Amino acid sequence: MDEKEHPTGAPPEPIDRRDFLNATWKVLGVALVVEAGWTSYDILNPKPSGGFGGVVDAGPVEDFLTEGTVKYFLDGRFYVTQYQGGLRALYQKCPHLGCKVGACVTNDVSDGFRCPCHGSEYNVIGEYLTGPAPRGMDRFPISIQNGHVMVDTTAFVEGPARGVVTGPKAPPTSCEATP
Ligand code: FES
Repeated sequence: MDEKEHPTGAPPEPIDRRDFLNATWKVLGVALVVEAGWTSYDILNPKPSGGFGGVVDAGPVEDFLTEGTVKYFLDGRFYVTQYQGGLRALYQKCPHLGCKVGACVTNDVSDGFRCPCHGSEYNVIGEYLTGPAPRGMDRFPISIQNGHVMVDTTAFVEGPARGVVTGPKAPPTSCEATP
């Protein structure tokens, strides 16, 4: 039989087996609940990954002050462009059949995008201009946090429909420099 030593040095008192088992089951039950809760939280709460599928830091807002600035982010699979003061994060995946759309860039300034597979062209804010693509380039939500452009790549928003052109209408001209 289990016994524990009395603090005063008196003879040890026997431990009731039923109390011991009850306490053990309670501890195990609490541990199980904590583990289940943590596992559920971990699965249901996506964390910023710093790459595609999470929230990507695209750098300070000051990097996008020049009109037509375009920067490519390999880890996030998107471009960030600036047009008339507005920033957009454009998904690199062509909405036609999924090829990587290339930026038409001269000195870090873009006048649009062209897909190398079937020639769909988009203006600097990813609006559809020509080619077989069914719509403009898809995009990711952007927020500014502590002066940095944060792009949420957990889910994209479909690009604007064909015929919706609020930006430049001229086709891109400098696609030979596509990275
Ligand atoms: S995959 Fe881009 S035009 Fe076909």
